[in-house]
Amino acid sequence: MKETFYVTTPIYYVNDLPHIGHAYTTIAADILARYYRLNGKEVFFLTGTDEHGQKVERAAKERGMTPKEHADKYVVNFKELWQSLNIKYDAFIRTTDETHKNIVQKVLQRLMDNSDIEKRTYKGMYCTPCERFWTQKDLIDGKCPDCGRPVDEIEESNYFFLMSKYHEKLINHIEENERFILPETRRNEVLGFLKANPLGDLCISRPKNRLAWGIPIPFDDDYVTYVWFDALTNYLSATFYLGPIWHQKKDIKDDDILHSSCWWPADHHLIGKDILTTHAVYWSTMLMAIGLAPPKNIFAHGWWTIEGKKMSKSLGNVIDPRDLAQRYGVDAFRFFLFREVPFGSDGDFSESAIIKRINVDLANDLGNLTSRITMMIGKYFDGTVPDSDSYDEDIKKMALQLKEKIDRHLQVLAFNKAIDEIWQLVSSLNKYIDSTQPWTLFGKRNDELKKVIYTLAEGLRFVALFLLPFMPQSAEKILRQLGIDGQFDLTRDNYWGFLKAGTKTHKGESLFPRIDTKKIEIEKNVSSGNIINIEDFSKVILKIGKVIEAERVAKSDKLIKLKVNTGEIRQIVAGIGKNYSPEELINKFIVVVCNLKPAKLMGIESQGMLLAASDSEGRLAILTTEREVSVGARIK
Ligand code: MSP
Repeated sequence: MKETFYVTTPIYYVNDLPHIGHAYTTIAADILARYYRLNGKEVFFLTGTDEHGQKVERAAKERGMTPKEHADKYVVNFKELWQSLNIKYDAFIRTTDETHKNIVQKVLQRLMDNSDIEKRTYKGMYCTPCERFWTQKDLIDGKCPDCGRPVDEIEESNYFFLMSKYHEKLINHIEENERFILPETRRNEVLGFLKANPLGDLCISRPKNRLAWGIPIPFDDDYVTYVWFDALTNYLSATFYLGPIWHQKKDIKDDDILHSSCWWPADHHLIGKDILTTHAVYWSTMLMAIGLAPPKNIFAHGWWTIEGKKMSKSLGNVIDPRDLAQRYGVDAFRFFLFREVPFGSDGDFSESAIIKRINVDLANDLGNLTSRITMMIGKYFDGTVPDSDSYDEDIKKMALQLKEKIDRHLQVLAFNKAIDEIWQLVSSLNKYIDSTQPWTLFGKRNDELKKVIYTLAEGLRFVALFLLPFMPQSAEKILRQLGIDGQFDLTRDNYWGFLKAGTKTHKGESLFPRIDTKKIEIEKNVSSGNIINIEDFSKVILKIGKVIEAERVAKSDKLIKLKVNTGEIRQIVAGIGKNYSPEELINKFIVVVCNLKPAKLMGIESQGMLLAASDSEGRLAILTTEREVSVGARIK
């Protein structure tokens, strides 16, 4: 039986569109899943959506849908994004899945039967947007410590999970398992917090009259399950009905929860730093109460800011990952996220940073290396890998050490260090070309040339092989250019000499074209509409004009010559002939830029310009006024 590897992402709320933060965690999980698949492990990569609770209920209400209709619509955005980012998950869980709901209820029942749940009347400060109760001393200036919004005092009866019972056990578990919570700073934070404060019990129900959208509490019809209790259980419930190997079971018996599946405990729960407490404390103690081991690792990554600012809807700086992937390429985007900052630290996203990475690391280092090597094989050996008995020992050594180093880094999710190891080989190969100068060997020292070229090709194969998890498409392209196709497998391919003499290589298209920063700058200025002030705007004299004559310009299907009365009669040549006939323009009131420098179009002078809107589908509409005003009226 193969070794198993189970990795999860948070399940994302279906209240809004996915952004760069969601993409970050999911790509991280994809990298790990791909790496361990490549290493011959049986992998279960789980992602999904968190579909109950107040946030989702409220978003649905705002959009005039039922929560389920809303979830069905918004889940598609996540699935489509994962596809476009080349994410190969094994299962996608939705917390509205019947089986999941069923398992959550079984867990609740189990905890109830074991006296781990108790009904209590509780008075507390409740933050509705965060769906969390706080104690008075948690509040900052009387407001929610998480979001800063006002809280309400609420008294109600609820069910509590007796989390406090597991306080000591949790501390011991963290202390005994160095890698349970990573990075270390986060581990210390959690430990420090747990040691300094008593652990309270967790309110895990919501009265139906306050929130209806949730999983019914199996032992009390008046309540639904707290969304975090429901959501966290996904990591376990999925193993029963979505995990590979483990056959889908229709009827889940209570015993199954006790004995769990071959997928438990998870190897990594990847999460953002903001949801560490729910995972490290709530989830771990829930598992202890069920009688299961906590996950092997919970990794809390940092947050992305955008050009130094917190990403937020109100600032209008939310990054759509699809946009970036389209503009720069999926692989470049994936690469950037993990090359730029260590996984546990916060990172700042900026266009200039991603462009720099693409131009330096990808176009200059890797892209050039690949094209130089395939070009030389083409030129010196007719496109086939030369035979060679000797090769450069240092390069070989470096290539063979890669796996062990990357294994070590990925165990602690040091993605940037893993990439760095690969880049050291890239840079050594580039230096090797510079120092051996193969072009001086050609036609003179053929054996030496064979050695150099073989070393380069085989070295590049190692680079591409280890890049597969990070940049799957580009790495495959490199391997194909080296004449290697098909299934890649590190348990089989990780030796020097895999690339056989006589293999036909292909010089492909450039992998990472350099990005012209000037061009991007101009596009950005136009699209962000570089802010102008009122003085700038008032320099433009816009007036209402009435069209009195219109005729097509000879030999042009686009241009129409107009006589327009804007208080004075002026001639305007406009490129609207594909959308308007001259006849329909006569007597129209239009908007004219009057102080534009006259220009000649097909030899005819245009004294100004009319305003029209056009879209990408080729539609065009002339701007006119909503009611009649005198000709010559100024637009301000
Ligand atoms: N539904 C819960 C998770 C339940 S898991 C059992 C949730 N969902 S979420 O959609 O709001 O957020 C998901 C993840 O996005 C969190 O891990 C959060 O840290 C991450 N991010 C949100 N904004 C982020 C950045 N600006 N940068 C990086 N990650 C960020 O929480």
